Amino acid sequence: MTRRTAFFLVVALVSVLGAATARGQEKLEIFSWWAGDEGPALQALLDRYAAQNPSIAVVNSTVTGGSGVNARAVLKTRMLGGDPPDSFQVHAGQELIGTWVVANRMEDLTSLFKSEGWMNQFPPGLIALLSAKGGIWSVPVNIHRSNVMWYVPANLKKWGVTPPKTWDEFLTTCAALQAQGVKAPLALGENWTVNHLWESVALGVLGPDAWSGLWSGRVRMDDAKVVKVWETFGKVLACTNADASGLSWQQATDRMLKGDSAFNVMGDWAAGYMATTLKLKPGEGFGWAASPGTGGTFMMLSDSFGLPKGVKHHNAAQKWLKLLGSREGQDIFNPLKGSIAARLDSDPAKYNAYLQSAAKDWKVNKVVGSLVHGAVAPESFASQFGTVMEIYLGSKNAQAAASASRAIADQVGLGK
Ligand code: GAL
Repeated sequence: MTRRTAFFLVVALVSVLGAATARGQEKLEIFSWWAGDEGPALQALLDRYAAQNPSIAVVNSTVTGGSGVNARAVLKTRMLGGDPPDSFQVHAGQELIGTWVVANRMEDLTSLFKSEGWMNQFPPGLIALLSAKGGIWSVPVNIHRSNVMWYVPANLKKWGVTPPKTWDEFLTTCAALQAQGVKAPLALGENWTVNHLWESVALGVLGPDAWSGLWSGRVRMDDAKVVKVWETFGKVLACTNADASGLSWQQATDRMLKGDSAFNVMGDWAAGYMATTLKLKPGEGFGWAASPGTGGTFMMLSDSFGLPKGVKHHNAAQKWLKLLGSREGQDIFNPLKGSIAARLDSDPAKYNAYLQSAAKDWKVNKVVGSLVHGAVAPESFASQFGTVMEIYLGSKNAQAAASASRAIADQVGLGK
């Protein structure tokens, strides 16, 4: 054997061994938008997974952007390109069903729900939200609340105001604050957070029954009541900061915490940010109330993970889903995330004062679903609604926005 041949033999051997190692090492790739400030809860769960499964290398693929605005686009490219992650974050409800279940891209998880005893551990209404076409399509890790108004108790005291109970009262409070030099009493952030504010205004103006009627088709999007929602929304917008489009949801929260604004309407991941990342004490560093006009109603959404068909690491993905759905997994994740457990048997002692109050409301309030966070409408409606909003922000024409929403609802067959 010449030295040259020997050299090539060694190189070949090394690469064969390398490939064998790569094949031998089991992997799990999970995909979500929980990075940076939003990352600690997911990281705690991944740490637990790694401790349970030391031989599995975890790849944590994240695409930043609140409410999944960027992640959903990347996911679409990967799914359609035949390169699905082993498990991905998706909102329970129409976001998953209307996109990936109807396209036959997901595995039915009914047998997993049965073998893990989950049929009795999750609320029946939530299982219904995850179900369609005779299957159950994802595992819920939490329940978040959309309709929350946040504030700093000491600041409200200083300004002599209290959290408003209706949107009309909010407008009066807004004027009182502006008279004291608080130019933008309500902190707002980038585009999707504007839609998020809209859903709280809509719930407050319509009430829970008419809100739910929008999604079942019982109430039309161009009903006079909905025109009123847009009119009220326009007045509320006049109380917000001019630089909203350049702020992430966390920066909008910061604006409220700094006292540049008095209030912020955001889902309770804001409680996770304030308590976990900023280490503020619930009730002291920040306070909360149902957004105006929505007391007694819990607008819910749930983050869940599904199992796409044809994944590379099926076994590792199943183990991930089992941890997510377990009591242990939910009680590791949720106290850090600012959400409550989706399971019925979680340990309240692990949760802070805000989360304990949310858990109580979840039990006794009327429950409705969020539009912006995927529960009630398919993406085909939700994304076009974003365009209606952009046009509205330019024109402030309530009637035109209501008519355009009706046209989209008819086009996508909402409630049919
Ligand atoms: C929601 C999601 C939450 C949180 C939030 C901000 O859609 O359900 O878990 O991540 O977006 O990004």
